[in-house]
Amino acid sequence: MSHMREIEFELNGVRTRATVRLDMSALAMLRDVMGLTGTKYACGEGECGACTIIVDGVSVCSCLMFAVDCEDRTLTTIEGVGREPLGARLERAFVDCGAVQCGFCTPGVVMQAKHWLEAHPNPTRDEIKRGIEGNLCRCTGYVKIVDAIEAASRAEG
Ligand code: FES
Ligand code: FES
Repeated sequence: MSHMREIEFELNGVRTRATVRLDMSALAMLRDVMGLTGTKYACGEGECGACTIIVDGVSVCSCLMFAVDCEDRTLTTIEGVGREPLGARLERAFVDCGAVQCGFCTPGVVMQAKHWLEAHPNPTRDEIKRGIEGNLCRCTGYVKIVDAIEAASRAEG
């Protein structure tokens, strides 16, 4: 089993172990090993942002990251983003603003917005558009997505 390795990392606040193939992406590990299917697979090439997670405080396309490189890192996925106040505000704002059509892009957008808003707490709408420019919505529902991120940035708590 030399093509497999056991790794340990923090996932959504919980110290976690997983046995992964050396060629497996972090995205495949999350979905197929950990059973966390909120993070989406779309392009698989770093072009769409559907697979965005936060690793050690930075947003990352998990389709481009090897699972073995998660060793000793801290990962947050859409399943865990609501544990922090900003993540919870974003989730609430997406619901309240109706910022979801098919929903396929939504987890990635929320994760990117969470990472980006931490460094840009009072953004303009144009700044928000630039902050999420790496996330594609095939339903093109961008206006309500920007509404939701703006609302989350203004909300208290
Ligand atoms: S699935 Fe990773 S960027 Fe598109
Ligand atoms: S809501 Fe369908 S891809 Fe964005």
